[in-house]
Amino acid sequence: MSRPRFSERSAHESTPNALALALAEARAAGRPLYDLTVSNPTRAGIPYDADAILGALSSAAALDYAPDALGLHTAREAVAADLRAHGVPGADASRVLLTASTSEAYSFVLKALCDPGDDVLAPEPSYPLLAHLAALEGVRLTPYPLRYDGEWHVDLDALRRARGPRTRAILLVHPNNPTGSYLKRDELRALSALGLPLVSDEVFARYPLTDDPRRVVSAANDAEVLTFAMSGLSKLAGLPQLKLAFTLVAGPDDDVRCALARLELIGDTFLSVSAPIMHALPALLAARAPTERAIHARVTRNFQAIRAHLDARSPATLLAAEGGWYACLRLPRVLSEDEWALRLLADDGVVVQPGYFFDFADEAYVVLSLLTPEPSFDAGVARLLERVRVVVER
Ligand SMILES: Cc1ncc(COP(=O)(O)O)c(C=O)c1O
Repeated sequence: MSRPRFSERSAHESTPNALALALAEARAAGRPLYDLTVSNPTRAGIPYDADAILGALSSAAALDYAPDALGLHTAREAVAADLRAHGVPGADASRVLLTASTSEAYSFVLKALCDPGDDVLAPEPSYPLLAHLAALEGVRLTPYPLRYDGEWHVDLDALRRARGPRTRAILLVHPNNPTGSYLKRDELRALSALGLPLVSDEVFARYPLTDDPRRVVSAANDAEVLTFAMSGLSKLAGLPQLKLAFTLVAGPDDDVRCALARLELIGDTFLSVSAPIMHALPALLAARAPTERAIHARVTRNFQAIRAHLDARSPATLLAAEGGWYACLRLPRVLSEDEWALRLLADDGVVVQPGYFFDFADEAYVVLSLLTPEPSFDAGVARLLERVRVVVER
């Protein structure tokens, strides 16, 4: 019998890497671990207004099925009002699309902009899922580098060179995961000048670690080109399990109209956001304050704590982060990233993400989640830095 033929777009490496195997073994053996990769807010000791959240989900209106391709109007109104209250004055409900996740928003926007074989430009280093999201649409990801010189910049010359005849859009992550770098006004102007649509992932935008007047609030503000600005409950309210994200479409009116018509067709084909969550959205947005505050306090505190741990003589360097939930640490190249991650796990029970998960241009970086509960963060960072010192002085 002939075997079924599968698509190339769904092909992937299914053998776990050495780090994943070592981690599974350590967990199975019940070893105490200092996990510096915790990024699930529901498992990080973050407070939630449980009564308000659960109460919001029990609206009787959710018993009615009233399909709407872009999402329930009252929910889109709530999103637009929230965006207006947070520095996006032009946000209008008629230009908001609801999806079950930001991942799904990427998939809808890529479907609207690209045919299989087209490509989009994407930052590097960045969010590892971008490669899968593009591949599953049959779209190629062409990297454009971010460079670090004490702060991160888009390498605009390299980005211009990366553009090809089938390039359909530029992806931005604002602030980027894991570098924490926000897009600056001059960068946005230069990107807009290329005339390509911008797809701006702004899930971490409300978690600044520093202030900077050069920063844009959202790529949707004063958009000169067609722009899709995406965010959602995952990070904004620390509720990834509720599955709701939103995309604001901005830019020249005709382009926005055409984009919304296509998104409407795609949305109508899937109708993937559930009624209970759409009815709950206004109350969920209103109830998020303690959670958002606690996450912001946690990531800010942990970033300051790691800075305080490092002194001028430390062989490890903390890269400047402007926002988001991650810290990038450069370690001496005496070991590769994989060797560092394996060594830290084996000798110290410290779990980190090696930089190559995010496609850093060189070695050796490790990425730490600032969402890690404070005691575990402090103990894990102390062990990590001590191991680096011992390895270097060996
Ligand atoms: C840059 C970025 N975008 C999107 C997401 C996920 O968002 P969602 O849960 O809405 O798909 C993440 C999750 O870590 C992320 O890091």
